[in-house]
Amino acid sequence: MISKALMLMMVLLSLGQGAVNDYEDQMSLGGTLFLVNREYMITADYVPEDLVMPNVMRINSSAMMRREAAAALEELFNAAKAEEGYTLVAVSGYRSYQTQQNIYKRRVKNAGQAKADQFVALPGSSEHQLGLAMDVGRSKNHKLTGSFGSSKEGKWLAENCYRFGFILRYKAEWEETTGYAYEPWHIRYVGREHAQLIQKLDIPFEEYIALLRAAQTGTGQGDGV
Ligand code: DAL
Ligand code: ZN
Repeated sequence: MISKALMLMMVLLSLGQGAVNDYEDQMSLGGTLFLVNREYMITADYVPEDLVMPNVMRINSSAMMRREAAAALEELFNAAKAEEGYTLVAVSGYRSYQTQQNIYKRRVKNAGQAKADQFVALPGSSEHQLGLAMDVGRSKNHKLTGSFGSSKEGKWLAENCYRFGFILRYKAEWEETTGYAYEPWHIRYVGREHAQLIQKLDIPFEEYIALLRAAQTGTGQGDGV
């Protein structure tokens, strides 16, 4: 852990103060590094301003993303096709607070509270409301189950999504930190630069953001001289 923190610290210091200041904007609401989870929640009225429908295969109209993320998703899906012949499918992208609430309530009703909390975020705590997350499936079977992770498409996604600015947000070994069970289908857009670093460090987004914040202090944004 310490070596990962040091590694990130060195990368950030080499980028200089300008880049680190830029990260502050990216970590704010509306930025591509904004952290949302059970601890850091967003209000019911938050709707991203630049939602668009990516030009990819999808199963319904719930596949919008913010413009930058949508363009990256198109590149990701095109690469899966061009490099491996895999057809990925967009299953669920932007979800309003109300939609997330409906999904959560339905899951509680069908599977019970404990199961719902393992897989579905409470309204206000979902990355889907940010317009930066997509649930990805296969054209043959777009059910969102753990078996997607062992399919060839799921493995390719896990190994390659960082090249297009996405991270696999809920790995099995991170459950304690993220608060969610393994979701091999859920990818989150953070931009290429950060996705590459997160892939290299192999840490949950919560830890990455904590390291970024620590690095900011270490580069003179705190009270030190
Ligand atoms: N499945 C993830 C945790 C969500 O509902 O946002
Ligand atoms: Zn998801």
